[in-house]
Amino acid sequence: MGSTKILSKREIQKMREVGELAARTLCHVGEQLTAGMTTEDINTIVHDYTLAAGARPAPLNYKGFPKSVCTSVNHVVCHGIPGPQKLRDGDIINVDVTSVLPAVNGWYGDTSATFYIGKPSALTKHVVEVARTSLELGIAVVKPGARIGDIGHAIQTYAEAKGCSVVRTYTGHGIHRVFHDSPSVPHYGRPGTGTLIRKGMCFTIEPMINLGHWAVDHLDDDWTVVTQDGSLSAQFEHTILVTAKGCEVLTRRDQVLKNSEDLPWVKVGPLTGFTPGADASA
Ligand code: MF3
Ligand code: CO
Ligand code: CO
Repeated sequence: MGSTKILSKREIQKMREVGELAARTLCHVGEQLTAGMTTEDINTIVHDYTLAAGARPAPLNYKGFPKSVCTSVNHVVCHGIPGPQKLRDGDIINVDVTSVLPAVNGWYGDTSATFYIGKPSALTKHVVEVARTSLELGIAVVKPGARIGDIGHAIQTYAEAKGCSVVRTYTGHGIHRVFHDSPSVPHYGRPGTGTLIRKGMCFTIEPMINLGHWAVDHLDDDWTVVTQDGSLSAQFEHTILVTAKGCEVLTRRDQVLKNSEDLPWVKVGPLTGFTPGADASA
């Protein structure tokens, strides 16, 4: 692991293109989520949409991962494998899309969101909205001169104040022509520690927030990560580029994320997408 890559103007343009595709793919999934569909159906949607765009789904065959997207339901923290499981009213599901553009030798865009299937309980809503806001607060501290530990500190302080916990085992990561590069971006930590953030770096922030304890277990499939105590877990992820004054969210959306952001109680943050009532075309 060397020092973190600083991207050139030309490389940044490639990251913008793949970020936009990953974001669009996630919106496309959100529009189709309903109770009764299977996580395999989500896999098909992501796989087909990605290929049609001249891209490749990064998860497929990545270190042996068997599918094109990660689908993590309820107490599954991350890396859920799509299959015959049917979504039910009251479930939450994180869909984690990583696109590679072009398909061969391409650039990576990584983004995820947690969606509501039908009507959630108050506690379900709580953990999802804490996760959503955690990502916003992490993004808000990114600028040249800040340190990676500042991000985790902002996320942990907020999530724990809200009675939730932050998963320790999985982190955000540098991303460009490599899926998972340095720096590692923990979602907990101390301010003023860790790698110095510099203009031109690209990395993800992807807090996994649990309603109970942060400890996790792995299922026998060697992929699925679950909360040890069985409590609900929610996650949101963006790929960001560090700019002169702050950062650019490469996987920002140009529309509301259906079944996640289009709900009456949701306040969408300023950095990562559409602000309800502020539609430029309205
Ligand atoms: N998209 C995940 C991340 O945010 C990684 C998934 S790897 C897979 O880093 F193999 F499980 F797909
Ligand atoms: Co990631
Ligand atoms: Co991801």
